[in-house]
Amino acid sequence: IYKWHHSGLNRWHGRGSTADFQKIIQERCDDYTQQIRPRARSGNCQGIQQAFTSAFISKDPCKATKEDYKPLLDLAYPTVPCDKAVFWSKTKELAHEYAKRRGLLTLEDTLLGSLADGLSWCGEPGSPDLNYQSCPDWKKDCRTNYFSVFWEALSERFAENVCGTVQVVLNGSIENAFDKMSIFGRVEAPNLSPTVTLKAWLVHDPGKPPSDSCSGPSIKELESILNQRSVRFICRDNLSRDQFLGSF
Ligand code: APR
Repeated sequence: IYKWHHSGLNRWHGRGSTADFQKIIQERCDDYTQQIRPRARSGNCQGIQQAFTSAFISKDPCKATKEDYKPLLDLAYPTVPCDKAVFWSKTKELAHEYAKRRGLLTLEDTLLGSLADGLSWCGEPGSPDLNYQSCPDWKKDCRTNYFSVFWEALSERFAENVCGTVQVVLNGSIENAFDKMSIFGRVEAPNLSPTVTLKAWLVHDPGKPPSDSCSGPSIKELESILNQRSVRFICRDNLSRDQFLGSF
C-alpha cells in the first residue's frame, strides 16, 4: 500500500508533463538561437536542455526552490534592450499581439521564456523520467512546484534587468486590474529598478464598459509599490482592444 500510494503517478491535480518535453526544448532552443534572435545567442542548447531537466528530474515535485533553477538561469539570463520590455497580467494574448506589432519584447520572447512557453513539466523522486500523468497544481497541491517556481524565478530576473520605459498590459475588464498576488504584482513590480519608468495600459473587452481605471484602488496599490522604489509611473485607461492595438 505504501509503495502504491507514494509512487502513484496520477496523484496530482494539474496537467502532466508535455509529451516530448526534452525534444521540444531542444528544437525550440535550436530555432531560437539560429533564427529568432540569433544576436541574443546563448549558443549552448545542449547545456541549456540539460540544466533545465536536471533542475527538477528525480526531485520531489513540491519542493522546488529558486536555487534549483540558478544553473539554468545563469546559462541564459533573460535580458531585453532598454525601452522594449512588456509585462502582462491576465492579458497574455493581447500583450503578445501588442509586442509583436510594436517590435517590443515580452518574457516569452527571451530564450528561456520561449522554451517553456505553454509547456508543463515535473519529475518524480527516484525516477529519471518526467511524470506525464499529472503534476502538482498551484492551488490544490503545492505552490512550490517546479512550473510555478520557474516562472517566478525567471520573471524576477527579467524584471530586475529591464531598463528605460517599460510597459505593462493590464485587464481593464476585471475588478482589480492590478492583482498583487499575480506574478506581475508579487514578483515583477517589486523588482523593477529605480531608474525605470513603468507605463500601464488598462485595456477592456470590446463592447463592455471598463471595470477598473487608473484612479481605482488596485492601480493606487501598484503606484504605492512603485513609489517605494522610486519607479516613475504613467497610466492610461479606458482603452478598447482596437484603440490599444491601433494607433491613437
Ligand atoms: N506560459 C504558461 N504559463 C505561464 C507563462 C507562460 N509563458 N507565464 C506565466 N505563466 C503562469 C504563471 O504561473 C502565472 O501566474 O501563468 C500564470 C499567468 O497568470 P496571470 O495572472 O495572467 O499573470 P501573472 O501571474 O501576472 O504572470 C504574467 O509574469 O511571466 C511573467 O513577464 C510575465 O509579466 C508577465 C507575468
